[in-house]
Amino acid sequence: MDWLASTGRALAGEIRVPGDKSISHRAVMLGALADGTSRIDGFLEGEDTRATAAIFTAMGVKIDAPAPTRRIVHGVGLDGLRAPAGVLDCGNSGTAMRLLAGLLAGQRFDSVLAGDASLSQRPMQRVMAPLRAMGAAIDSDDGERPPLRIAGGRALRGIDYELPVASAQVKSAVLLAGLYAEGATRVREPRPTRDYTERMLAAFGWPVESAPGHARLDGGHRLCACDIEVPGDFSSAAFFIVAATLVPGSLLRLRSVGVDPRRTGLLDVLRAMGADIRETGRRPGACGPIADLEVRHAPLQGIDLPEALVADMIDEFPVFAVAAACAEGRTRIRGAEELRVKESDRIHAMATGLAALGARVDETPDGMLIEGGPLRGGSVDSRGDHRIAMAFAVAAQVARGEVEIADVANVATSFPGFDALAQATGFGLRPSRAGPAASPTPIGGAGGATGAPARSL
Ligand code: S3P
Repeated sequence: MDWLASTGRALAGEIRVPGDKSISHRAVMLGALADGTSRIDGFLEGEDTRATAAIFTAMGVKIDAPAPTRRIVHGVGLDGLRAPAGVLDCGNSGTAMRLLAGLLAGQRFDSVLAGDASLSQRPMQRVMAPLRAMGAAIDSDDGERPPLRIAGGRALRGIDYELPVASAQVKSAVLLAGLYAEGATRVREPRPTRDYTERMLAAFGWPVESAPGHARLDGGHRLCACDIEVPGDFSSAAFFIVAATLVPGSLLRLRSVGVDPRRTGLLDVLRAMGADIRETGRRPGACGPIADLEVRHAPLQGIDLPEALVADMIDEFPVFAVAAACAEGRTRIRGAEELRVKESDRIHAMATGLAALGARVDETPDGMLIEGGPLRGGSVDSRGDHRIAMAFAVAAQVARGEVEIADVANVATSFPGFDALAQATGFGLRPSRAGPAASPTPIGGAGGATGAPARSL
């Protein structure tokens, strides 16, 4: 499926983006291993998180879906999973595969984790190495790429592990294996990453020591069922935050977004570039603070991005590159080589796509140099990467011409209904091959229906 995107209206209204992907994955995983029944509210109905739920169903966990975005997980206890009949399919999800690798390393049965074409190219040595050091038997054909074969029945021992790359997925894989290990498991990170695994383990009653860049737990406890309310995914909100900032006349409100500081580096950077983003109603949540955001159009200035912020905005670089391309002056991104091993090589995908729209971009091994200026219409390839597709839909809102975005079906992995919600807030966006988008689901009379002015560039 492809999209045709072009300038629409000034963005207006009040919306709620779908639930946080990272939290939804973890809520299913820990709910499945807990004693008792856990209720999840705000579960992301994306392909990635549904793949995780299907994997636990295949291992004997009963998961009810009484309504969209609700799950009731009937936990089987730490040792209650059953051997699956076949290969466990993680689809497009690196989070599912890496976290499950840690969890499955501690089971009594063998398992195989596989994924789609993109996931089958992603590096797994980063989880295999520490898990092997804990005593796990895990391998893959070339020692790096999926499928991963995990032999059960191994006695795991705790580890003191210093991560070579800042990765919440690797940290989480080690901690989840640590639940099954003898003794203490400790992880240190070169830069702090999202701490949802630590926070959620604590919410499920497992004692965890956690500080930025450091986590430690002991094996031998139990998980107790817990109800989880999943906030809106900041990474999904980011597309609307940047679009409302770029499109003249916009005023958009986003309700109940997770604003944990380990996720919101983009807010700090955009504000430093001149963005007008106000936060109201901040309240605590089980996985960090939740808030409502109000975004008004504002002109942006280019920035030399501090490397210390890279991990806190790791999933936002595609849309950040669009913001930088529309800012006045030059933006430099460094220390972001991890972007080359995401769902696509995001440095290359953004540099190539922005160049196709007339931007001046230099690709570097660990980032980009972007000279702000006007964008024109053209054709770009999302390379099957959900965030690249949505980033170019944002770029199209300020491009002088229509932008054709190829291969957007994977947007459903993280943001089902993006197209309808985008249209409702004022985006010019339509499918170019498939049927019409589903009906919009804004709340509070979104959709520029409030008489937002038509816009011409
Ligand atoms: C995630 C961690 C990040 C992020 C991914 C989700 C998680 O990956 O890019 O989308 O849920 O832990 P890395 O930990 O590999 O950086």
